[in-house]
Amino acid sequence: EKSGYPHFMLKEIFEQPIALESALVGRLKDGKPQIKEVQSLENFVKNQMKKVYVVACGTSYHAGLAAKYFVNRYSDIDFDIEVASEFRYMNPAIDSNTLVLAISQSGETIDTLEGVRLARKKGAYVLAISNVVGSTISRESDGVLYLNTGPEIGVAATKTYTAQIALLYTLAAQLIYWKGYKKEELDEIMRNIEKMPELFRIILDKTNGHLMELVKEYKNFKDMMYVGRVFGFPAALEGALKLKEISYINAIAYQAGELKHGPIALLDDNFPVFAIVPLGKLREKMISNIMEVKARGAKVIALTSKDDLQTKKICDDYIDVPSIFEPLIPLVVAPITQLFAYYIAVQKGLDPDKPRNLAKSVTVE
Ligand code: M6R
Repeated sequence: EKSGYPHFMLKEIFEQPIALESALVGRLKDGKPQIKEVQSLENFVKNQMKKVYVVACGTSYHAGLAAKYFVNRYSDIDFDIEVASEFRYMNPAIDSNTLVLAISQSGETIDTLEGVRLARKKGAYVLAISNVVGSTISRESDGVLYLNTGPEIGVAATKTYTAQIALLYTLAAQLIYWKGYKKEELDEIMRNIEKMPELFRIILDKTNGHLMELVKEYKNFKDMMYVGRVFGFPAALEGALKLKEISYINAIAYQAGELKHGPIALLDDNFPVFAIVPLGKLREKMISNIMEVKARGAKVIALTSKDDLQTKKICDDYIDVPSIFEPLIPLVVAPITQLFAYYIAVQKGLDPDKPRNLAKSVTVE
């Protein structure tokens, strides 16, 4: 059942090209979203929807955060997001004009389920995004989009996370078009999303061996910080979550601009930094953040574009990603941070499939 892989986690990391294909089939064609399976959705979005609100936990929350930046980049649709365990004890600003996206791989997370119940009580239209057919959250929502990735056994979410992002981006593009926004860049991005399975094959193939070696220099640190900006931020949060879950390294994530507001005080030569450096206008900003970090003696691994020689020169280590648009960062960075966490856990002698204190679905509060 592990198809020759030593762990489910590694198998599921390498299944991502197929998982992405399955999540997108029938929903994205020639760069055009075609979300047709939820009957009443189009009518609701066109005639009633004034706001989108994401409710989710853990990795699913990170996927929702990537969707927030995506919607914000191509429209001015009001978009809010809250961790479900907070949402359910808040008084969230939602009503019958709100589309609530309840994102839950398992569809059984109790906090997200209670969020769904609260949202429905307030009259919202609740759309579940889940991987498990017939799960409680899917049944209690007004509609559901399934990820269709097949079961995920590893406690650390991997293939379902990237499938969530690909599906959420497609849904977001659909909402944006239904609302009448026209953006050429969005068409181009969606064509790139369609090519993701192929790109993932290339990334996995090119980085796997390098990461296996690279982790030897990082596995003994007790702390590690992940930094990024805008689309790089959910990528940083998710990278840090994977590392802490399975390697028990104290991995934390910040928006790089927040460093000087406190977290930089932590850094020294015992506290390496994983920096996500996109192309475009944020690149220069990230470079100056990296210089500040280097001045404290911290080692820096940069995730950077192949032709970004300037960043490569100032870092201790780097991992190449193909030159990509900023919105694609949460996707293309994921397999790299997943493999990085996986190899650290394995080289520390830990079992990444059975992290201590964690369960695959959190059905108690
Ligand atoms: O099944 P869900 O998506 O609702 O689960 C949410 C979180 O419990 C889950 O993503 C958790 O953070 C994972 N262990 C992450 O790897």
